[in-house]
Amino acid sequence: MTDNPKIENLRKIRAKGRQGGGKKRIEKQHERGRLTARERLDLLLDKGSFRELDAFVEHRTQDFGLEKKKILGDSVVTGWGTIEGRLVYVFSQDFTVFGGSLGEVHAEKIVKILEMALKNGAPLIGLNDSGGARIQEGVVSLGGYADIFLRNTLASGVIPQISAIMGPCAGGAVYSPALTDFIFMVRDSSYMFVTGPEVVKAVTHEEVSFEELGGASVHSETSGVCHVAADSEADTLYLIRKLLTYLPQNNMEDPPYKPTRDNPLRREDSLNRIIPDDPSKPYDIKEVISLIMDDGQFFEIHENFAMNIVVGFSRLGGHSVGIIANQPAVLAGVLDIDASEKAARFVRFCDAFNIPLLTLEDVPGFLPGMTQEHGGIIRAGAKLLYAYCESTVPKLTVVTRKAYGGAYDVMSSKHIRGDLNLAWPTAQIAVMGPEGAVNIIFRRELAEAKDPVKKKAELVAEYREKFANPYIAASRGYIDDVIEPSDTRPRLINALEMLTNKRDSNPAKKHGNIPL
Ligand code: HXC
Repeated sequence: MTDNPKIENLRKIRAKGRQGGGKKRIEKQHERGRLTARERLDLLLDKGSFRELDAFVEHRTQDFGLEKKKILGDSVVTGWGTIEGRLVYVFSQDFTVFGGSLGEVHAEKIVKILEMALKNGAPLIGLNDSGGARIQEGVVSLGGYADIFLRNTLASGVIPQISAIMGPCAGGAVYSPALTDFIFMVRDSSYMFVTGPEVVKAVTHEEVSFEELGGASVHSETSGVCHVAADSEADTLYLIRKLLTYLPQNNMEDPPYKPTRDNPLRREDSLNRIIPDDPSKPYDIKEVISLIMDDGQFFEIHENFAMNIVVGFSRLGGHSVGIIANQPAVLAGVLDIDASEKAARFVRFCDAFNIPLLTLEDVPGFLPGMTQEHGGIIRAGAKLLYAYCESTVPKLTVVTRKAYGGAYDVMSSKHIRGDLNLAWPTAQIAVMGPEGAVNIIFRRELAEAKDPVKKKAELVAEYREKFANPYIAASRGYIDDVIEPSDTRPRLINALEMLTNKRDSNPAKKHGNIPL
């Protein structure tokens, strides 16, 4: 209580602003299993750390009766706070106010917070829940979106930008998230589409539900738009907090060091037995990852998209690293269009934010076939090649088994500035696998052989003996050392520490021209 009427007035105004679109709309939001913009911020940020900005802003529209509907703060809550004590800037769209739609002042508020994040070098987190451009404001809304897109792009590679999709996001509401580094979605209650089911029906006559068109499953498994899908809003916000623990505040900082009790010298004998004797048999690369990394922890990105390659964040001896690993358990770990694009984007993120790369390689090559060729595997594979080639962060590679063909070059080989390239004795580094190689180079001999099956078996055995090992590559220095798998953890931690002061750069240029 206060006896100062001016302070009393301020408190009243603030309390009114916090009501957003009012009790009824808040109830509706809750009935749908969704939280309000402010409740989400409470879960995302350290308790009591949120400082709001622009709570008194109101829209200036005079059309369609909007002049009579003004809501303090308009349809987005902006400000800053902390996550595990580290500064972050945030905006949280308020669906209870004009459906979270974006008009002039909504855009201005986001632009302001984005510019502050950029100037002060801290991550930006956007919690999106919006019907898109505010229809009543017409082209002004479109201009507002473009103002945000420009800032997202300018901030790209300077500060981490993270988007969470917490409700329906339509039209322009999807493109700002798409320009950011990571998109999180909530299963069964968040949607992203450029045009909604009604427009789709009118244009293509297809009948689709929100979920089928742009739900979290679609975007985390099929389109690859979503990087992390979570079961609830609370889980989504928790996972964003967790992701940030691996990231620096901006591109001028190193990622945070987190001391670990996991012994850096820990040997893992089971790794000596993890590769099956039969080269066509799969094993799970995630098991390898969990045996090597600190406390077996791994924050996976794109877990259910292009599962033939695994990417994500982890730590070695307390240092944050980005892992790119072929997954022999899915499509034999082959590189296809989606896998190439998934990994390329991840490599570029890590490189932009000084996060060392660890590549675990077991790849039979690029996926052959019409679908892939016509779909542009050349263009997609070149993206991954380009991303690895241009990256200057410390790069460690471990060839666990197959490193065949172009995929050998692509996956952080020595030739494209791998800093330390190790191989397990089970590695097979060659232009192609024994069967394929024999079919091509001994075609005539096989055709003329009395017993082609026996002849082929002999030739395959000879080829395997000669080429399907790491020693030819090692004899040329393409592989720096062949190690016992059980020693992988200590060797990698040692290498990372050896590379602590690595300095490398690319020729000065405006920007490169990555194949898109
Ligand atoms: C103004 C909007 C709005 C919008 C929703 N509302 N979208 N107001 N502009 N774009 C308002 C509604 O009038 C309603 O107000 C409240 O928000 C809640 O909306 P409902 O329709 O009742 O909610 P729901 O049934 O949950 O449906 C949510 C929705 C739907 C799927 C988002 O509202 C919808 O389809 N909206 C339009 C989506 C769209 O086409 N946007 C424009 C895209 S074009 P009251 O007062 O009743 O609470 C675009 C171009 C940008 O964005 C391009 C840049 C590249």
